[in-house]
Amino acid sequence: MAAQTGSLDSRFYQTADTFFAAQFHRALTFDDLTLATLYSEILPRDTQLDTQLAEGLQLNIPVISSDMDTVTESRMAIAMALNGGLGLIHYNMPERQQLSEVSRVKFHVPGMIQEPIKVAPDQLIAEVLKLIEERKFGFSTFPVVDAKGKLVGLLSGHVVKPRYAKRKIAEAMTPRGQVHTINKKELGKDPIARADKFFTEQPGIHKLLVVDGTDHLRGLFTMSDVERISHERREQFKPARDAQFRLVCGAAVSATRNAFGELDRERILAHVGGLVERGVDAVAVSTAHGHSKGVGDTVKMLRDAFPSLPIIAGNVTSTAGVQFLAESGASAIKVGQGPGSICTTRIVAGVGIPQMTALYICSRAAAKKRVTLLADGGITKSGDIVKALTLADAVICGGLFAGCPEAPGEVMEIGGKLYKQYRGMGSLAAMKAGSAARYGHAQDPTQKVAPEGVEALKEVSGSVDRVLAQLIGGIQSGMGYLGAANLELKEAAPHDVVELKTGN
Ligand code: XMP
Repeated sequence: MAAQTGSLDSRFYQTADTFFAAQFHRALTFDDLTLATLYSEILPRDTQLDTQLAEGLQLNIPVISSDMDTVTESRMAIAMALNGGLGLIHYNMPERQQLSEVSRVKFHVPGMIQEPIKVAPDQLIAEVLKLIEERKFGFSTFPVVDAKGKLVGLLSGHVVKPRYAKRKIAEAMTPRGQVHTINKKELGKDPIARADKFFTEQPGIHKLLVVDGTDHLRGLFTMSDVERISHERREQFKPARDAQFRLVCGAAVSATRNAFGELDRERILAHVGGLVERGVDAVAVSTAHGHSKGVGDTVKMLRDAFPSLPIIAGNVTSTAGVQFLAESGASAIKVGQGPGSICTTRIVAGVGIPQMTALYICSRAAAKKRVTLLADGGITKSGDIVKALTLADAVICGGLFAGCPEAPGEVMEIGGKLYKQYRGMGSLAAMKAGSAARYGHAQDPTQKVAPEGVEALKEVSGSVDRVLAQLIGGIQSGMGYLGAANLELKEAAPHDVVELKTGN
């Protein structure tokens, strides 16, 4: 347990309060300190990672993907929620598009291909062969729909062969009456389990088409996907869902100003109203300087208009900043100014605080104000997350996910290696993309602004599932070393013990 006061241990291994108080003259980041181990009765695999960020916003793992235009759109948010975390959809896109990105996450049916590649009855098999060749599809069975999207048959891979090239799809397809379908409404709360049951009951059938009440195609399950997901599910953390069993999704909003430089209240309220209608689970008022009038006013206005909506706000690095946002109505506060991997704020503006010190300072104010803390930026490995979680309720990562296939952007090859773009939201390119989308053809307001982020490349990594599996494994190991069965132990003294890294 905790080092006995006066013991040799306590001279070297200190609680967070003692340690940070003694280090008041220098600010520390993740690599400047390390956690001391503690007596444990906990095996890593038995640790619980769920975290409550606000009333009505519970995650099963404490990891959030950044609201950045090279990190989180619907595909990333879906992958994060399926693994128990949360994605914050960025705001560098027209507002309408952000609404549909949120809808995509909220309507996502796990395991179901939402928009299967379809073919038309009057096409030739030759055209299908060409499509497969050009788009390098690894499958050759396609639903056949008429011009209005109504299901008319299924083109089986058995007939997609050069010998039938001149035949029309209508002649070669399995007609509608013999195609196995399920109404979307019958999928229930656990579509994968329902599809799995179907495949067991129908030996030899490997595709299940999903239709609506008017027989329009709404999706497709394949047996191999369902088997893979059912298998992975036993090993993974449960998806993070809302009360209606939909995946959770967050969206970032900015403190938009009108042509007179005033907060554009009507526009912000209308947009957040739209997000709430679509079922958004949290909005994040995301700015580089959260301890500012614009952000405070925006949070207050949103809190008044949407009393039960979880509001994330930031970024701050001081107790005054946390108090200010908490008093404005924020439920969770983002901490981090300058730690981001693509961030040049400290160089350009000369401001920012190393992240562990910022987290410690903010955590004391957060505990008093009963708000949760999100450690945002600078995380490059699972050990950083363990350190952050001794003071925060969850972490926000950008760079760690930017190389995943689920992040927006194309893969590029340079010198035989594969990369994806990763850029700061304060980089010139991202600011231009944001302003162009937001203000149409208005004069570019970024021209006189010094960028506070860079454009970089990230080597392509494995899928979000894989990256998270690694991170979670590390977090669980760390908790085992700290004797922490769950993240609620965060505030307990033994969990906060830290020591300075040798040589620092
Ligand atoms: P990581 O280290 O995970 O950091 O890549 C992601 C976080 O960095 C912040 N961010 C920026 N900070 N200039 C900055 O100073 C930028 O251009 C920028 N873009 C993102 C943001 O908090 C994000 O979650």
